[in-house]
Amino acid sequence: MLKVGVLAGGGGTNLQAIIDAVESGKITNAEISFVLSNNPGAYALERAKNHGIKGIVIDRKAYDREAFDQKLTETIMSEAPDLIVLAGLMIMIPQALCREYKYRIINIHPSLIPSFCGKGYYGLTVHEKALEKGVKVTGATVHFVDEIYDNGPIIMQKAVSVKAGDTPEILQKRVMEEAEWQILPAVIDCIANDRIRITDNHVEIID
Ligand code: GRF
Repeated sequence: MLKVGVLAGGGGTNLQAIIDAVESGKITNAEISFVLSNNPGAYALERAKNHGIKGIVIDRKAYDREAFDQKLTETIMSEAPDLIVLAGLMIMIPQALCREYKYRIINIHPSLIPSFCGKGYYGLTVHEKALEKGVKVTGATVHFVDEIYDNGPIIMQKAVSVKAGDTPEILQKRVMEEAEWQILPAVIDCIANDRIRITDNHVEIID
């Protein structure tokens, strides 16, 4: 059984998609062992509580950067998840943790990487930039996390159409519904069932 630790800083709709997929059997051989947030007010923590999942808060505002990184690293090491899922955590993962958890941390990003990603590209900004550029297709990406923002090997992507009259908010909602909430649980299921092969930093999903 794959022990999954979910790190979420906000509303937690991706966390909810994972919880629902575990409960409905779309994800097999995995359980969410904790939800950790850097934001005590994150609704993600409520969602965890509602489903009997342990919630952990490490308030970013209560620590300086170094102490926060240390606390986060220690906490995760002691929880010892098999997989760490970043679902809306607006912080950089400490380098030591990235190294220790190589190919065991995944992130969901609301664009088709390498478009509209990297430092500063989070939340609505991603969709604002996509609309500004006039792309006709955007989407979401699940990738492994390394020491550089949105840089690690891509695991799964799903495209979403941009429509006339889209606002960043409308596009964000469509990307979540049609892509993020689909591919994040799908990738966790693949990892839990040993269906991911990594060769030369490239990922292949085995049917
Ligand atoms: C999502 O758009 C995700 O792609 C990004 O942060 C957002 C989190 O939303 N990394 P939620 O908290 O899961 O609703």
